[in-house]
Amino acid sequence: MRFKKCKEELKKVLKSYAYKRQALISCLHVTEEKCGYIPEEIISFLAKELDLPRVEVYSIVTFYSMFTLEKQAKYMIRICASLPCYLKGSDKILKVLEQELGIKENQTTPDGKFGIEAVSCLGHCDNAPVAMINDKIHENLTPQKLKKIIQDLKNSSEKLKEEIKI
Ligand code: FES
Repeated sequence: MRFKKCKEELKKVLKSYAYKRQALISCLHVTEEKCGYIPEEIISFLAKELDLPRVEVYSIVTFYSMFTLEKQAKYMIRICASLPCYLKGSDKILKVLEQELGIKENQTTPDGKFGIEAVSCLGHCDNAPVAMINDKIHENLTPQKLKKIIQDLKNSSEKLKEEIKI
């Protein structure tokens, strides 16, 4: 059975609520934490368990930005495209990133490791251009700096794979 562990966790959450329907948001948080996104199968599972139309669960998932319907890349790279960063070359940074990873904005590499998004101001305009990789901010980026960061992330993934093999 797919998502077995997630469903087991969700059943525990559901038991802790006197009124099952109040558990929906908590269940979605648990799903996001366990799966990294909200799979269609879990939407159907929750709809059945909560006795709700599937479309209602779906509308809650799509309403809140903290829930996603697609699996996120391991390293989500968000490049600030707002004016101060743009004036400092964020468009060139984005092009270099696309070349390095062989994907375009809003795409994920086939191995699921890297994803690229152009976003609005990340609140570090003094040190433009800026990118955020997962929850870490990288300031004063240059194409060279970015290439080094990408290489380090690729290497750390490889190192982790080697450690798991041992
Ligand atoms: Fe890029 Fe603010 S404009 S961080």
